Amino acid sequence: MKKKDKKEKQSSTGSAAAAVPGVTPDVYHVAVLPAETIDLLAIKPDGVYVDCTFGGGGHSKLILSQLGPGGRLIAFDQDEDAKRNLPDDPRVVFVPQNFRYIQRFLRLENILAVDGILADLGVSSHQFDEAERGFSTRFNAAMDMRMDQRQQVTAGEVLMTYTEARLHKLFEQYGEVTNSKTLAKTIVNVRNHVSLQTIDGFKEAVRGIVKGNPHKYFAQVFQALRIEVNDELGVLKEMLQQLPKLLKPGGRAAIITFHSLEDRLVKDFFRRGTFDEPVENAFTHDATTNELTLVTRKPVTASEEELRANPRSRSAKLRVAEKIMMV
Ligand SMILES: C[S@@+](CC[C@H](N)C(=O)[O-])C[C@H]1O[C@@H](n2cnc3c(N)ncnc32)[C@H](O)[C@@H]1O
Repeated sequence: MKKKDKKEKQSSTGSAAAAVPGVTPDVYHVAVLPAETIDLLAIKPDGVYVDCTFGGGGHSKLILSQLGPGGRLIAFDQDEDAKRNLPDDPRVVFVPQNFRYIQRFLRLENILAVDGILADLGVSSHQFDEAERGFSTRFNAAMDMRMDQRQQVTAGEVLMTYTEARLHKLFEQYGEVTNSKTLAKTIVNVRNHVSLQTIDGFKEAVRGIVKGNPHKYFAQVFQALRIEVNDELGVLKEMLQQLPKLLKPGGRAAIITFHSLEDRLVKDFFRRGTFDEPVENAFTHDATTNELTLVTRKPVTASEEELRANPRSRSAKLRVAEKIMMV
């Protein structure tokens, strides 16, 4: 994977993207890879579908357009704000929860297995463009970055309380910040006399150690903090592990990622059906059998046309897997 693929380009989440065929332009969010995602989900008109990341509802609207009156859509979003985009449609149930609890909340709806599951990861353009949510380096606001406002830990809390070693690791692993060790040390040194709870306060406190283009530098730092605050890799892993049991035979899972850390998890899980290490001992029977088969061997990426219309689509990668039919 090329290094530059690892970063979700923060400046590119513009909500003013022009029209993409099949999707009504939405100020809240423009759905990426809309036609590709819906085609590959191979919607059954009477099926039950889950949109793990409802957001502006762009993908959900497309799913609904292919569902008949007997179909159902369960839409998750941990940000209750997304609820305002819900269509007035009796086939839809909104679940304002983290998709890491997907199985639990489907059970509450008396649903044991579904025909398709979609997750379009990350933040919506709306969340990114709302200054007070604290996701964007462009504004001054509280260092928040919580997708779920009920959650306690904010980016400010991370900066003010994590050990130097923990900060170093997260900037290195989640943001590939070139001087992550120096950054962590600087944060720990200044935070006793300077508050790092605001974006401007934080930027000013570390101004002296910024390497290279400040915009790019802070984009990487903010990406790392966002991944940590929302435990983005942890929730993805937990959701993926529930997929084989949740899908009906022939049911499909479509996951759209925006950086290589997420994409690697999806790729590995779809290939192997587990995150467990392979059993090395040749005499031990490896009981792990993958119930998923790949629909996409390579990730699907945006067309030239979509790239022009919606710059956010440039780091999007769609992978689709299907639960194997029993024989
Ligand atoms: C990229 S947007 C999805 C946009 C949507 N596909 C559309 O067409 O408008 C991601 C949305 O998923 C939500 N989200 C991200 N991670 C989540 C999680 N772990 N559980 C529930 N919702 C999540 C965010 O709050 C955000 O609204």
